[in-house]
Amino acid sequence: MRLERQLSVVLGLLLSAAVQVGALTSSEWRNQSIYQVVTDRFARSDLSTSAPCDTSQQVYCGGSWQGLISKLDYIQGMGFTAVWISPIVKQIDGVTKDGSSYHGYWASDIWSLNPSFGTAYDLKGLSKALHDRGMYLMVDVVTNHMAYLGCHSCVNYQGLNPFSSQSYYHSPCTINYDNQTSVETCWQGTDVVSLPDLKTENDGLRIDSVKHVEKSFWPGFESAAGVYAIGEVFQGDPTYLVPYQSYISGLLDYASYYWTVNAFQSTSGSITALANGINTLKAAAIDLSLYGSFLENHDQARFAHKTSDMAIAFTMLKDGIPIIYQGQEQHYAGSDTPYNREALWLSGYSTNSELYTWIKRLNQLRTHAISKDDGYLSYRAWPIYSDSHTIAMRKGSSGKQVVGVFTNVGASSSTTVTLSSSASGFSANQQITDVRHLFPTLNSHFDRKRNFRSSYINFVVGTGNTAALGSWNTANAVTLSASKYTSSNPLWYASVNLAPGSVILYKFIKVSSSGAVSWDSDPNHTYTVPCAAATVSSTWRR
Ligand SMILES: *[C@@H]1O[C@H](CO)[C@@H](O)[C@H](O)[C@H]1NC(C)=O
Ligand SMILES: *[C@@H]1O[C@H](CO)[C@@H](O)[C@H](O)[C@H]1NC(C)=O
Ligand SMILES: *[C@@H]1O[C@H](CO)[C@@H](O)[C@H](O)[C@H]1NC(C)=O
Repeated sequence: MRLERQLSVVLGLLLSAAVQVGALTSSEWRNQSIYQVVTDRFARSDLSTSAPCDTSQQVYCGGSWQGLISKLDYIQGMGFTAVWISPIVKQIDGVTKDGSSYHGYWASDIWSLNPSFGTAYDLKGLSKALHDRGMYLMVDVVTNHMAYLGCHSCVNYQGLNPFSSQSYYHSPCTINYDNQTSVETCWQGTDVVSLPDLKTENDGLRIDSVKHVEKSFWPGFESAAGVYAIGEVFQGDPTYLVPYQSYISGLLDYASYYWTVNAFQSTSGSITALANGINTLKAAAIDLSLYGSFLENHDQARFAHKTSDMAIAFTMLKDGIPIIYQGQEQHYAGSDTPYNREALWLSGYSTNSELYTWIKRLNQLRTHAISKDDGYLSYRAWPIYSDSHTIAMRKGSSGKQVVGVFTNVGASSSTTVTLSSSASGFSANQQITDVRHLFPTLNSHFDRKRNFRSSYINFVVGTGNTAALGSWNTANAVTLSASKYTSSNPLWYASVNLAPGSVILYKFIKVSSSGAVSWDSDPNHTYTVPCAAATVSSTWRR
């Protein structure tokens, strides 16, 4: 369910006036790198790594601002300088057939905080903890609508705060996405949970009292907030997206998102459309350095759901502020909402996982490029080479440029690219730093189906001949995640990178809360790693 389709914004916000750090200007946001958190799913106050969270239920799983404060090392360790959190305001209570308000997009009272996430003291503590580290906080703000548990015509407006009368709202209608007026005035949501659409064009919500067309809400809103804002315009067409930057400083780069996903999700993805798209956007955009560049978020099926290969480097090295959505670093593979909101604690917060260390390296590279090249952020990255499977991008002026080569040939193939000296900025025999030679590492998913009571047991995998599975040392075994576990499909799984062609022996073990280990019975499971990513399914009942 896309709850905040057109007009949700994220603000770089300073919440505590007592803190000695000023809010960043737009130009200071350019050099940040953002980690996106779904507050309910990132960390619990008790720091549990086993508390179950069935995404399909769409209910609160217990993440909190206190939990987030305790896990800032994990985020900063990857090189991020800012954290984007879920909306903070009080939500409608109750569980509907569309789930509950754990995501924060169903506000009932915008003057109160969501008690499920913590107190005002906790939220200020989060702000201070970030600022003490020289990091920044971005708060997701929904201005488009409030929420009501019930049908459109049964909304009790008096229960909404502060917009407690029908006169603040547009009349209910069903959105026609081909009609901009309809997009701006009709209601999102369903008859299960109505999202009464606020008349954001009216004086009541604006800082000054001039009536304008809808887009003009944003400059007043942003200057009233006094901070950089990045807007979500859920549209990939640059001709629709680009003009919004006349009204709001930053935009999520949904244009590049669709081209990038389409290009890299399979070996037949269109690299040509990606290259053409990048050129079109580069020519049309007002300021690409203030766009947010992302590959995943809480509204889209994860990229890893489409293919086990990754396109993270492409999104972090192109124009815009990189935004990584929690779980990308652990190769979470949830499908569409709500399955893309897996509890991060079930990963055990590994800081050694392949993608955690890769994202860290990319943040380091970007920070280094920014420090060496005053023009790096304003340089508009462009495709210096493309063919049907491969694209090479350059960002940065000669002598300081970063050139990335990205291909969708897949793990079982290789490709050779010749870059011209004039386009790449490299001369013959020049020494370059190869950040990462991208060879295929294979991702195998270990599935383990059976019924378990999960709250106090960790399941782990052991193996005889590969370090990736712990080399039979139970202390180093891989933790199976319950994030895809449902009662109808009791699945525990882990993703592991294994060398193609190797023969793996493994067993499941169960570790109780006291640390006692019980082993899967003989014989060992065996698995020969193929030359393409694969899923291994085994069952074991204990
Ligand atoms: C990036 O932004 C921060 C925060 O304003 C600032 O302190 C820092 O100097 C900037 N770094 C560069 C390289 O521009
Ligand atoms: C667009 O939507 C608005 C609001 O629902 C409606 O009044 C108007 O007639 C629609 N325009 C067209 C061309 O359908
Ligand atoms: C399982 O594999 C380990 C490591 O190779 C080996 O020591 C053990 O004997 C195997 N177990 C069985 C029952 O084959």
